[in-house]
Amino acid sequence: MNGKRPRRYAHPDNIYHYMASNRISESLVRLAMEPPFRLFARAAIKRFPCSIRTKAKWDAVDRPQYLVGVIAAADEAIREGVGDISVFEFGVAGGNGLLALENYSESVEKETGVRISVFGFDTGTGIPELCGDHRDHPDQWRPQDYPMEEEKLRSRLKPRTTLLIGDVAETVPRFVREKQAPSVGFVAVDVDLYSSTKHVLQLFLLPEKRMLRRVTMYFDDTDFIFNHRFAGELLAIHEFNSESRNVKIDRWRGIANRRVFAESPWLEKMYVAHDIEAIGRTQLRRAVASDLGLL
Ligand SMILES: C[S@@+](CC[C@H](N)C(=O)[O-])C[C@H]1O[C@@H](n2cnc3c(N)ncnc32)[C@H](O)[C@@H]1O
Repeated sequence: MNGKRPRRYAHPDNIYHYMASNRISESLVRLAMEPPFRLFARAAIKRFPCSIRTKAKWDAVDRPQYLVGVIAAADEAIREGVGDISVFEFGVAGGNGLLALENYSESVEKETGVRISVFGFDTGTGIPELCGDHRDHPDQWRPQDYPMEEEKLRSRLKPRTTLLIGDVAETVPRFVREKQAPSVGFVAVDVDLYSSTKHVLQLFLLPEKRMLRRVTMYFDDTDFIFNHRFAGELLAIHEFNSESRNVKIDRWRGIANRRVFAESPWLEKMYVAHDIEAIGRTQLRRAVASDLGLL
């Protein structure tokens, strides 16, 4: 030995997989996932180059809710034999979320081979007029909150990302009817208002819609003290499910299973839009699954 680490230890992902591959180290990995060690492990995973899936598993990015949604969308595309998907942020404001989504999409595209187009929707001038009653929470938001510096943001966006300026009441139907974008794979909803969220969800109602059978979603304004089922994004989801026959939105069940930080608050805000009409038409082409046999 020349004092250098053997090559297979050089990459943190390799350490992780090497450790997981023998029994003593498996216990060490498990220990690394326990408090307080997991905080140190996460700091290391954040700092050193690791696969994007490892970063997602450990919440080792600024917006794990976006990264986990995009990875699941790409995996779903592979399952469905789809080569291109679209991912969205509705409500862009300064653009930090959109830039993160763009960055994660680039990494997930490299990891999975699924091509990913990114779309951001915003008025550009902040929150629009409210609907006039409790449903838009006039106790929280006022028109013109969160304006955008459009040119500054545009100058930082890469070609995979399109910024659509205007009220979603108009831009969403136009986009669905005219754009012919790849199937919707992941949607982050951060438009704050009930009325705006209703318009965003037109994405799944218009006859020209294109979506994966399962679309992962993040709803930002669902876990504050002022949130309830009778206003805001939660009311928009509830009404969507009453009105929509073919697509239903439900909580993302089991998302916390096997996660290192299973108590992270963002997990509660993850949903899935299920295209139940397309699911009902699906015929599996795989061989019959075998029984697990007697133990
Ligand atoms: C909280 S900010 C978004 C923050 C951003 N997602 C982030 O993480 O940095 C909410 C944004 O939603 C946008 N918005 C609300 N209603 C809208 C509508 N009807 N059409 C387009 N944009 C809307 C506002 O302009 C505002 O910029």
